Amino acid sequence: MIAPSILNADNMHLSRDIKAAIESGIDRFHIDIMDGYFVPNLSYGPELVKDFKRSFPLTGAEIHLMSNNLKITLPLFVEAGCDLLEFHYEATDNPSYWLKYLKDHNVRRGMAINPSTPVQKVRPFLKDLDQVLLMTVKPGFGGQKFEEKSVERLVELKNMIKAENLNLPIEVDGGIDRETLKISRDAGATIFVVGSYIFKNGSIKDQVMKLKKEDK
Ligand code: DX5
Ligand code: ZN
Repeated sequence: MIAPSILNADNMHLSRDIKAAIESGIDRFHIDIMDGYFVPNLSYGPELVKDFKRSFPLTGAEIHLMSNNLKITLPLFVEAGCDLLEFHYEATDNPSYWLKYLKDHNVRRGMAINPSTPVQKVRPFLKDLDQVLLMTVKPGFGGQKFEEKSVERLVELKNMIKAENLNLPIEVDGGIDRETLKISRDAGATIFVVGSYIFKNGSIKDQVMKLKKEDK
């Protein structure tokens, strides 16, 4: 599955860019929320998510929450109506609390891990997740290069999920293009967040179609 990251779309033409992707068969978008503290960048607030769901009620809104001020930020995005929320393992001392919070509010649950965090750290939480997000770049900016060491981390994560007898999808985010999609797919990822490759390379439809050919 391809989940376009709107961070790299044209902010002055967001709905045009989103529509172009939907017309190419996209049914879930990845919305990057940056708080200027957990990562050195700022992006959107909950109003964007409300407007997204009002304009595209049948399309999934996946929130990638890059904030460690979860007490304030996480409920805002739950109330805004997201379908799935992934917070960072590194952002809280009490991931279980937030996983229960999301469950109680009927939001699907994801956990993200940074490239510098050992994959084993998420093991205790796997059984309570709907997906795991393995960052393939340091979070904060679109347009970075896929980190090669992600491949062995993906294999480790895939084996860990198998050892726990779970069937949990792995998502990758950062520097995904046609080549790195293939590489990460072969290493076990099934959900691909793609920003610049889709939104900064001419025709959005052509870019989505090229990726779809590899996403089997
Ligand atoms: C980085 C974000 C990504 C990013 C992806 O912090 O989490 O979702 O926007 O953009 P590309 O595909 O350009 O790396
Ligand atoms: Zn992201």
